[in-house]
Amino acid sequence: MLRVELTELRKRFGSVQALDGAGLEIAAGEVHALLGENGAGKTTLVRALYGVVRPDSGSIRIDGELVQLRGPRDALELGVGLVHQHFMLVPELSVAENLALGERGGLLLGPRALRSHAAGILERYDLGFRPDLRVGELSVAQKQRLEIARALSRGVEILVLDEPTAVLVPSEIDSLLELLSRLREQGCSVLFISHKLDEITAVCDRVTVLRNGRNVATREVPGIELRELGELMVGSELPPPGQPPRTQVGPVVLRARGLTTPPLVGVDLELRAGEVFAIAGIDGNGQTPLEEVLAGVRVLESGSLELVQPPLALISGDRQRTGLVLGLGLDENLVLEEAARGGAPPEYRFGLVRPRELRRSASAAIERLGIRAAPDDPVRTLSGGNQQKICVARALRRDPCALIAVNPTRGLDVRATAQVRDELRAQAERGAGLLLISTDLDEVLELANRIAVLFRGQLYPVAPAEHTRERIGELMLGGAAA
Ligand SMILES: Nc1ncnc2c1ncn2[C@@H]1O[C@H](COP(=O)(O)OP(=O)(O)OP(=O)(O)O)[C@@H](O)[C@H]1O
Ligand SMILES: [Mg+2]
Repeated sequence: MLRVELTELRKRFGSVQALDGAGLEIAAGEVHALLGENGAGKTTLVRALYGVVRPDSGSIRIDGELVQLRGPRDALELGVGLVHQHFMLVPELSVAENLALGERGGLLLGPRALRSHAAGILERYDLGFRPDLRVGELSVAQKQRLEIARALSRGVEILVLDEPTAVLVPSEIDSLLELLSRLREQGCSVLFISHKLDEITAVCDRVTVLRNGRNVATREVPGIELRELGELMVGSELPPPGQPPRTQVGPVVLRARGLTTPPLVGVDLELRAGEVFAIAGIDGNGQTPLEEVLAGVRVLESGSLELVQPPLALISGDRQRTGLVLGLGLDENLVLEEAARGGAPPEYRFGLVRPRELRRSASAAIERLGIRAAPDDPVRTLSGGNQQKICVARALRRDPCALIAVNPTRGLDVRATAQVRDELRAQAERGAGLLLISTDLDEVLELANRIAVLFRGQLYPVAPAEHTRERIGELMLGGAAA
């Protein structure tokens, strides 16, 4: 039985034809993957199924019935739930309050009822945290489990997950994929968006590939080859994995001594010109505090940080919270750093912006990284991968001497990932020191000349002979601390 039939959907936003006749079918008890390059229309398609995007034309059938969705409430009533690419929880509210949001009369419940409603859900879905915890204090994986639990607790039987694994580490990804298999056994249907081809082959029954808002193919997953999937997606052969840059290592550009701020304890590091120094590790071992210290927005308990060779640039690990100003245009986001200091040429003169120059710079960045958007589009409207590309473009603009990149390819499709890694290698070859803080082991091995593992706030150097997946994976789990 078909639970979902999306047919010939079209949606235009201004000058962008986000959906151009796309569609797919999901059977009962099927895990269906949706694959496509950044900006291909995946999020738009699932937002149409969830009632938050009104298609210009085309049809949506759920359980055989033609439906007109006026909003998420209609979708939820029909059993469709969506876990968004960017979380929709309210960080300032408690877990219990978030679980009540959007429920009829939810926030009118008294505090006791609110808490017991939440406690029931937390227990049923085996979430080990308290209802009165503020959502802002949860880890990313916990927030995601909370969103999934919230959807399932509302009787969702068609669960749509928009890039759920982009924010997870390998062990968490495994548990999520297991959860999807369990849901399938219970007869749920799942629509799963991911850029990681191996995740698709691990759990999905079928895959639909989108390109430029149109369907390229729908295939059975068992038996399909990774290479074929990749080629369907980009329309040509995938680039082979890259190698760390071969460069001359120069003087120290950034030096940290005894950095201490919870959970970091006495972290020493030196970054040299011309090298890629990678800090591998599972999220939650001090990556965010380290990023904040290096960005100068977090106070140290003790220790010192010296930028020997400015300028320093940062690709933030959280594009929506600290990387971008979502309400501003792509062009304005590109010059944010200069703007904060009163503006710099060529986009500014005498502290005033020069619109034509700004437009030219933005167009150059769009061209260079293949961003699917116009210079003055508000960043809020861009696809996740395209937002990520803006963060990268901004950091590379001023030829930094020290470049800190935190998960720089998160949310990028395979082609854009290869392209950004090439750009980062080129920075090291030009003579910049690149500090790569990454939870992606493939990324670390493809880029790094030197590697250390961050575990529970401490840094463990990895000898060159140990630059293997197995060894680094072991160290990430605490293999050196034992
Ligand atoms: N609300 C909106 N206003 C204007 N343009 C939009 C809006 N939503 C999406 N778009 C545009 O539609 C196109 C498709 O975007 P969509 O978010 O569906 O891509 P995606 O396949 O999910 O990409 P990614 O892998 O990067 O998340 C993009 O060019 C995007 O800029
Ligand atoms: Mg998307």
